Amino acid sequence: MSDAVDFFISKFRKNIQKQEKWGRCYRPRPYRNAVVRFRNCSIDDFEERRDILINEAGLNAFLFRADKIPGCDLLSDSGTTTMTMEQWASLFMGDEAYGSNEGYFELKRQVEETFGPGWGDVDTSVGGASDSLFIFHQGRAAENAFFSVLSRKLREEGSSYPPEISNKLGPELKNRIKSKITTLSERFGSLREPICIIPSNSFFDTTQGNIEDKRMIPVNLPCREHLDNREDFPFRGNMDIEELEKLLSCERERIPLVYLTITNNTGGGQPVSLENIKKIRELTRKFAVPFFFDACRFAENAWFIQRGEKEYSGKSIKWIVHEMFRYVDGFHISLKKDGLVNMGGALVIRKEGDFKRRFPDFSCDLIDHQIMTEGHPTYGGLSGRDLMAVSRGLETITRQDYLDARIGQVEKFGEKLVEGGIPIIRPTGGHAVYIDMDRFFDGEKNKADFMGISFTALLLIGGHRVCELGTYAFGSYNGKREIPPDPRINYVRAAVPRLAYEDQDLFSVVEAIKVLADHREMIPGVNVEYGREMSLRHFKSRFSFLPLAKGAKSRKNKVLR
Ligand code: F0G
Repeated sequence: MSDAVDFFISKFRKNIQKQEKWGRCYRPRPYRNAVVRFRNCSIDDFEERRDILINEAGLNAFLFRADKIPGCDLLSDSGTTTMTMEQWASLFMGDEAYGSNEGYFELKRQVEETFGPGWGDVDTSVGGASDSLFIFHQGRAAENAFFSVLSRKLREEGSSYPPEISNKLGPELKNRIKSKITTLSERFGSLREPICIIPSNSFFDTTQGNIEDKRMIPVNLPCREHLDNREDFPFRGNMDIEELEKLLSCERERIPLVYLTITNNTGGGQPVSLENIKKIRELTRKFAVPFFFDACRFAENAWFIQRGEKEYSGKSIKWIVHEMFRYVDGFHISLKKDGLVNMGGALVIRKEGDFKRRFPDFSCDLIDHQIMTEGHPTYGGLSGRDLMAVSRGLETITRQDYLDARIGQVEKFGEKLVEGGIPIIRPTGGHAVYIDMDRFFDGEKNKADFMGISFTALLLIGGHRVCELGTYAFGSYNGKREIPPDPRINYVRAAVPRLAYEDQDLFSVVEAIKVLADHREMIPGVNVEYGREMSLRHFKSRFSFLPLAKGAKSRKNKVLR
């Protein structure tokens, strides 16, 4: 009898440990639905969606009303999480005091617990607001505050840098920086001196926007493996170390800090290895330049390190997160991602770090900025109850079972697309699947017509929302010609909200995308009706479908790769 039971236990265990083509299909989710929301529209309402899309939204996915999306809303994984019952319960425990509310101290404790010793600045809790942890209502508010104060500090320093960018950078990198300077000079009339450069593996669009707004030059240095589309390379989010070294050795005075976005959202949600983080730390130490994370998806990044770097495979996610954060002087984070909440952001500066040493009174100025724009540092732009929910979110996010299920789901979604012949960035990243529009549309021939916008618009009519992050979102128009993103990126992103959808929902998106793929000759280009020359134009523009090319007819393509 007990032999039989043991027999079945071993069979059940084997069954859930099966690693078939796409992750752990045989393992149930480590949570269950506690609340559900019925929709007030149906997948069959194609004509209604067409009318809204064309007449109200001007084919812009951001302007399409969410309550009319019957399928998956994959516009963003940001702020779209389903909160846990612990988080909902914690809201009741919110303390809405105007100064030094209870949630603030709880958050400091949790930040220390999640990110490691020193980060929560808990030892000042008796004395009130810390000068290391700054709360904001979302990530970009933290970025804006950070770069506003930073650019002012740099101006006050009055450093005089050589007017010319060094020739030693080599023509490619030098030209890239010069063309950025030209674009910004055209936008702002002239650039105030000094011209500072901030390198990163790749900036997200708001971070890039905030840096440019302060007349600084963001430079993306994605690793070679990513540019070469190396599908076998597990850390495509890495920064190109050689390029960074070149930049630091030629232009060190102009570089107030170096950034890593973890995971690298713009580059496909791809993770950065601890090896890369450590190498950047070595270089930034050598050149005495502070090093920061844009840490939105830090826990997902840690999961990839655990899976992809042998020496860390036995370590817990929490251990890896602490290790990652040991190497940086500060970070900002949109808590709407791996904070597991619907609103929130933070900027955290290491007390004993290189950044604090370089700008000793930075925190003081930052607090002034925060008070003027968001609120007292002990609540930032959030209410007391929000701080409670953030704390619980930062506690849950490093759970192994959560991350296994989360990233496993994104992986399954990606593999289903690949099975259907859809070209995506591989390996799949942590939070999203990125569909390669250049390959989807067979290379260059359609690129002027922003086919990612057409794809997104038609898929909305199909019932699902995704986001163009390609030649439209990252390109620009100078009144005469389009300037494509450099290095070129042309993706449509399907970002998966946390704890919101089941595999079946995502597989229905795959089916709809396959309809587009099967008939891709029938997909028209778009005309930009409004906003082409604007900054951050993809949020604001309106489009119309161009007529189909003469003779276009469906050839039902099954395989695109
Ligand atoms: N940094 C990264 C890497 C991001 O992905 C985002 C937001 C931000 C900063 C800004 O944070 O939205 O709280 O102000 N990304 C969302 C997205 C919007 O859809 O990828 P925020």
